[in-house]
Amino acid sequence: MTEFLFTKDALSKEEKYEFLLKQIPSLISDEYNLISNLANLSAAIKQSFESFSWVGFYLFDGRKLYVGPFQGKVACTIIDIGKGVCGKAAEVKETIIVPDVSKFSGHIYCDPDSKSEIVIPLINANDLHGVLDIDSCVLNNFDEVDKKYLELICKFLCENIF
Ligand code: SME
Repeated sequence: MTEFLFTKDALSKEEKYEFLLKQIPSLISDEYNLISNLANLSAAIKQSFESFSWVGFYLFDGRKLYVGPFQGKVACTIIDIGKGVCGKAAEVKETIIVPDVSKFSGHIYCDPDSKSEIVIPLINANDLHGVLDIDSCVLNNFDEVDKKYLELICKFLCENIF
């Protein structure tokens, strides 16, 4: 198994993402297994950023979103399309950044300490596979840099493991 190298605290956010992006292909097992690959990817993303409190995947079964591999506290199991930040990002098929979850109407609380959130839809040729959801206990933790790199990671996943 390829060893995942921890990022250095001194790196900028962009440098941490660049480092993470380079590691991702080596984290994908040659022996195809979606759950195994997503499990390691959620761990790799979480351990790259101290400010991320929850990192995980909700997978679309054609009707609803079901919690998949994740790192963090216990989460809600099922999310309807259009509900919460995850369901809304899945519905509009666009990344949603929530600087302050208390101001997002319909936000679904899994962790009361969560303050901000980003959700990136996993889409391939307009087909929805699910979403990548990341929470932070820091207000306004996510910006266009996170959006750019997390969308690149999700694009890679859609093209290679779904
Ligand atoms: N906050 C999400 C629910 C999932 S948890 O954050 C893990 C939402 O509003 O969709």
